[in-house]
Amino acid sequence: MKTLVVFYSRTGNTRRVAEEIQNSLDCDIEEIIDTKKRSGPLGYMKSGRDASSGKLTVLKDITHDPASYDLLIIGTPLWAWHVSTPARTYIHQNHTKFSKVAFFCTAGGKSFGGTSRT
Ligand SMILES: Cc1cc2nc3c(=O)[nH]c(=O)nc-3n(C[C@H](O)[C@H](O)[C@H](O)COP(=O)(O)O)c2cc1C
Repeated sequence: MKTLVVFYSRTGNTRRVAEEIQNSLDCDIEEIIDTKKRSGPLGYMKSGRDASSGKLTVLKDITHDPASYDLLIIGTPLWAWHVSTPARTYIHQNHTKFSKVAFFCTAGGKSFGGTSRT
């Protein structure tokens, strides 16, 4: 089965999990790269606001065509009880090309239930 791990990571946690999965499955990997600056306290606040309001962002071009994979494993950090804005944007722009999809998320707390909110 041809598999692609796709992830967004602001501070490295989701990247580490994505790379573990990639190593275990020996598959391709794609990092979602946001053009919006999200570092520092202001970036944190903007990110929380963007996620909870369901905003989209502008991503850098992707390098792997999701249509050529049997399975996509998409990873996101939890932002304000929602999927992160860059991961939401990736899904929004590419979902018609998905075959099977699995998701994972990382979070600072225990409340993962809302990650499915888009
Ligand atoms: C804007 C923002 C909002 C967050 N909101 C939540 C939250 O609602 N619940 C939670 O458990 N963690 C929350 N976190 C913590 C991140 O989900 C957690 O640290 C995650 O592992 C970060 O992943 P990354 O290092 O790949 O960016 C938030 C982090 C950010 C930056």
